[in-house]
Formats: sequence, C-alpha cells, structure tokens
Amino acid sequence: MVISRENTFYIGKNMKIIQITDLHIDKENENPFDIDVRKNLLDTLDSIRSYEPDHLVLTGDLCCIDGQNEIYQWIHAVMENFGVPYDVIAGNHDDSLMIAESFQRTSLLNGKEFYFAKRIGKYPCLFLDSSIGKHSKNQLNWLKRQLHQHDDAITVFMHHPPIKAGVPFMDNKHALQDMEEIQSIFFDHRHTVNVFCGHYHVEKNLQIKNLNIHITPSCFFQIDQREEDFKVDHHRTAFRLIELNNGVLSSTVRYLAGNKLGVVKS
Ligand SMILES: [Fe+2]
Repeated sequence: MVISRENTFYIGKNMKIIQITDLHIDKENENPFDIDVRKNLLDTLDSIRSYEPDHLVLTGDLCCIDGQNEIYQWIHAVMENFGVPYDVIAGNHDDSLMIAESFQRTSLLNGKEFYFAKRIGKYPCLFLDSSIGKHSKNQLNWLKRQLHQHDDAITVFMHHPPIKAGVPFMDNKHALQDMEEIQSIFFDHRHTVNVFCGHYHVEKNLQIKNLNIHITPSCFFQIDQREEDFKVDHHRTAFRLIELNNGVLSSTVRYLAGNKLGVVKS
C-alpha cells in the first residue's frame, strides 16, 4: 500500500473523495479481454460504499473503445443509483459531447471540450479535458486564469498524466502531447498542484517541483511498467481514496479483493 501525503493545507471539513478511472465499459454482454468490465465497476462501487465517500470522480475512459451513448447512459444510471455526488471527465476513449449530454451537464461544455472548475466541499478543484491527447489554447488559457484566481493549493483531475512516468509503452506511444506546455502552467502556480489522473493503467505517485502527480490504476487491467510493448501486468482493479483530514491531503490506492493475478487470454 502506498500512501502519499502532502503538506497541503486547506480550510474546510474533512472529506473523502474516491477516484475511479479507466472503466472501459463495453456494450452489454461484451467482455473485452474476457473481463466483465460492467461487473468490475459494480464491484468497485460495492467496495467503496463502506468508506462512506462524500464525492466520487470518474477520470475518463468510461468507454472501452470509443464513446457510445448506450454505454454512457448505463454508467449514468449506475452512478445516479449509487446516490453519492460525482463528477466525470473524458479520456481518450471517450466523446466529450456525448458525456456532457448523457450525464446531463451540457452547461459545462466549452465548444467541444468538457472542462470546468468547482469546489468539492470547500476545496477548489479543476477538471480538464485531454480526450484528444492535448488541450486547446482556449482550455490552457482558461487553466492559467483559474490558477491565477486561486492563491492556494489546488486539486486537478485530468485523464492523462502531465508527465512521462517511466512506463515505456505508454510514455512512447500514448503520452500527453502538450505535456511541456501544461507543466509550465502548473509550475507557474505559487502553491502545490495535486493532480489525480489515470490513462496509464498503473499505480504511480510522482513529484516534480510544486506538482504532485497521482496515477491511479484502472478498473480494467494494469499495464506492465517495464515492457516496451503492450503487456498486461495483472487484473487486480483498484480505486483511489483521497482524504482531506484536518486540512492535510493524503491518498491511498485500494485494490479490490478477489481479482485474479496473471496474464490475460488474448
Ligand atoms: Fe484507459
């Protein structure tokens, strides 16, 4: 178990936020890689119930291959039924417009991008859209303005890690395209920027300057962190518990019990 702990102080009540990422939900009765991805999401939600979270965030790749309304509507129904407030952002296997429509949040669209700022409790959070592998100039300018307005630590949810993470297959083939530009915007912030992301299907915590980057494992499968070519490492699925206790932010990745280790059939 890895616990990352930043001396990041906020004002507000203690909060528990759960991040779930890279669900890769497929059509009904479709089990990509022989994995029952719908059951994985339902099992994850069952597991997190006992933590009594205040808020959930789904950080992209809701759909398995590409955005499909039927899949978003199923996830939307599941999340509404779960009954805990939540936010959602798009990954590279998603369609931002479809997400905004299916989750009834079209007011948060900026053109074709789905990015927004909101407070979870009293804690300022930014939600970015990197679904096309990079951010528009408009979105980057919006991010600069948002950071400028917050003279304090801030939490950012985005799909892609804004850093190469030492995972050769992902770093070489699927890294964020405007990484240097977005890093320089984060570095200009005078306070800590806590980024919670997914996309890489690994567990990693990285720190560079004022930037704490937390990569959360997938609900689908995890990728081998040493291989140049795509290789599944294991099938233990996970979520991240983010806690704000007495003003200190910490986070822990929790793996679900019962998932099989080993190589997937292909
Ligand atoms: Fe993914």
